[in-house]
Amino acid sequence: MATITLIPGDGIGPEITEAVVKILDAAGADLQYDEQQAGLTALREEGDLIPESLLDSIKTHKVALKGPLTTPVGEGFRSINVTLRQKFDLYQNVRPCRTIDGIKTRFDQVDFVLFRENTEGLYSGFEIFDERNQIADGIARVSRKGSERIIRAAFEYARKHGRKTVTLVHKANIIKQASGLFLTVGRELALEYPDIEFQDRIVDNMCMQMVMYPDRYDVIVATNLFGDILSDLGAGLVGGLGVVPGANIGDGIAIFEAVHGSAPDIAGQGIANPTALLQSAIMMLRHLNQMETADKVETALFKTLADQSKTTGDLGGNNSTQQFADNVIANL
Ligand code: NAI
Repeated sequence: MATITLIPGDGIGPEITEAVVKILDAAGADLQYDEQQAGLTALREEGDLIPESLLDSIKTHKVALKGPLTTPVGEGFRSINVTLRQKFDLYQNVRPCRTIDGIKTRFDQVDFVLFRENTEGLYSGFEIFDERNQIADGIARVSRKGSERIIRAAFEYARKHGRKTVTLVHKANIIKQASGLFLTVGRELALEYPDIEFQDRIVDNMCMQMVMYPDRYDVIVATNLFGDILSDLGAGLVGGLGVVPGANIGDGIAIFEAVHGSAPDIAGQGIANPTALLQSAIMMLRHLNQMETADKVETALFKTLADQSKTTGDLGGNNSTQQFADNVIANL
């Protein structure tokens, strides 16, 4: 039996978490939960945004499932998501984007996995504001070590899952040092993986390519900011943030999370869609080697999503969060 840290989060977090745990239990997942708070909820209840008990729990159990956390824009505290990623050195942000039957999108054969570097780049936290001259500087730190481990993770994933191509995204024509280093390391590593085709794309071109020919992409790897933007673009190609999973993975610890936010506009109404968190939980089950349960939950989820009358409001149905969970359970 695996014990995981369960972080319901803010806003719609607790509602979708309850639905997901219900489904996992019904599917017979071999899991125990150590429930912990983070963010605004933790601040209110425990006086700390990232309580020590949360950090200890993640260190002990090594795997966490996390609901969304509220982060104020442009002021207040630094994003807790970013802090957790840096604290546990979760350098891989993995976002699978796959067409789901029944979810209306412009394309129907999308199936790629995006690896975003999660600890460096413009998100390193090196920002300076010159008050007098009103100039803001942000430093994009890219290291050889940081580039190598994320690009290697992408190649290893491709090899393990029978994927054919790794596409590296950069802007080395303009950002010659930071983006140039990432591309150089990618080209070097590609020589170690002759069985995988390697290509690179400049990020602006890549955006166009992804919306015109998304089925041409397989495994994509990018630095932090480009990866952040492309991963939401990818989500948009397959139905939006409400349906795609996300994982933050390091060499020892992994945090699986819903990639959408805390949706304050619908929080507390019982109408949020738990699909994204459930998809993340399916990734987590595979990470824990509970393959059979993962397949079972995934099949039931896809069957439910394929019938619009069984879905939540955002997908055109009129089921509540808990009714949706019951519909998935009925399909197990
Ligand atoms: P959001 O993702 O919370 O909401 C955007 C829109 O999508 C809203 O209309 C919302 O109702 C809808 N939506 C989101 N998730 C849904 C779901 N599961 N079911 C149905 N509808 C859903 O993004 P927003 O409004 O930009 O951010 C709100 C807060 O969430 C902010 O404080 C932000 O910092 C935080 N946030 C946290 C993230 C995380 O913890 N991973 C990621 C993104 C935002």
